[in-house]
Amino acid sequence: MGVTAILLAAGRGERFGADKTQVILRGRPLWRYAYDTFRSMREITEIGIVAHADHVEAFRELADDADFVVAGGTTRGESARRGVEAATQETLLIHDAARPFVSAEVIKRVIDGLETADAVAACVPVVDTIKQVVGEDVATLDRNRLVAMQTPQGTKRNLLLRAYDEVSQEFTDEMALLEQIGVRPYLVAGDAANFKVTTPEDLLRAAGFLGAPETRTGLGYDIHPFATDDRPMMLGGVRFDGPGLDGHSDADVLLHAVTDSILGAVGLGDIGQHFPNTDPQWRGAPSSVFLHHAARLVREAGWEILHLDATVIAEQPKIMSKAREIREAIAASVGLAADRVSVKATTNEKLGALGRSEGIAAFAVATVRQSP
Ligand code: CTP
Ligand code: MG
Repeated sequence: MGVTAILLAAGRGERFGADKTQVILRGRPLWRYAYDTFRSMREITEIGIVAHADHVEAFRELADDADFVVAGGTTRGESARRGVEAATQETLLIHDAARPFVSAEVIKRVIDGLETADAVAACVPVVDTIKQVVGEDVATLDRNRLVAMQTPQGTKRNLLLRAYDEVSQEFTDEMALLEQIGVRPYLVAGDAANFKVTTPEDLLRAAGFLGAPETRTGLGYDIHPFATDDRPMMLGGVRFDGPGLDGHSDADVLLHAVTDSILGAVGLGDIGQHFPNTDPQWRGAPSSVFLHHAARLVREAGWEILHLDATVIAEQPKIMSKAREIREAIAASVGLAADRVSVKATTNEKLGALGRSEGIAAFAVATVRQSP
């Protein structure tokens, strides 16, 4: 049997204070977590997203393997209805995109339940004592008889279409709606990780589930010979008296090493792959443009740059006289405070090609951490 998973992501996130399903958590938008889990399951043969009307186009691009993306309505119920109408399979699972950590096990329990029941949903026991408050009246409900509903909630498409036809009242989940047409939900165990991100504090909880952000280190190295023409000497984005270095772009050996170190820290390849000297887009571009662009790629991949350290190996010029300018130039290109950039220099003690002043080399080390 085919199964359509419908991801509801059309809410405004009023209690959260922003469109919570779009929030980036460890480099991935919140909605993407559940999406990827459903995608990974062979039982799911169709996936649709219900997005806010303003985001439908963006979702079509970001989730280019989604089977459909439709605009939601002003209520969760209306959004679900639009997803149900777009679905092509008879068996449907409806899931809140705001529950990022739904597991394949929970999804599987709901699917298995549908083999014998018309409607199945995940739920968890209630941990707090719940009171019913009506005006002045306060009644204590028996906690042992209560459960908190989660998603996914699964049922048959034709049952939901019938319920939409027959029931005009709005409900906060599909099971409540189906109860109105006499369908009795079969409840399976959800789990604590499958909580719904509702308030800003819930995002901290979500980050907690993912564990501490990872820290990584990247190494960069580059070397250029001195030029025979009168090109300017650029080192760390700062101009020095000539002779300059020969090579691609402005041949800024230090910025090239730093660029490779940040790309390396997050496994994004190297400078030659991103800025090939055959690409006219980068011809004649100052190396600070490469570094700036690479730093953006690193951030987009979900990492923040914490610290950069570099060593230049050169008999000449005297680099440390402009160390402060270099640190500020690198910091500005990367979007970092200058005290998080370190630059050092050494001669090669007249040894080898560098010692004979045939060229300049640079090493750089970058430390990066996953974004919260
Ligand atoms: N949802 C939806 N369409 C709506 C309202 C909600 O698709 N008109 C989705 C949300 O995007 C969320 C899920 O239904 O994934 C559960 O809803 P809820 O937690 O209430 O999210 P919001 O409505 O966005 O939040 P709030 O109620 O605080 O505004
Ligand atoms: Mg809501």
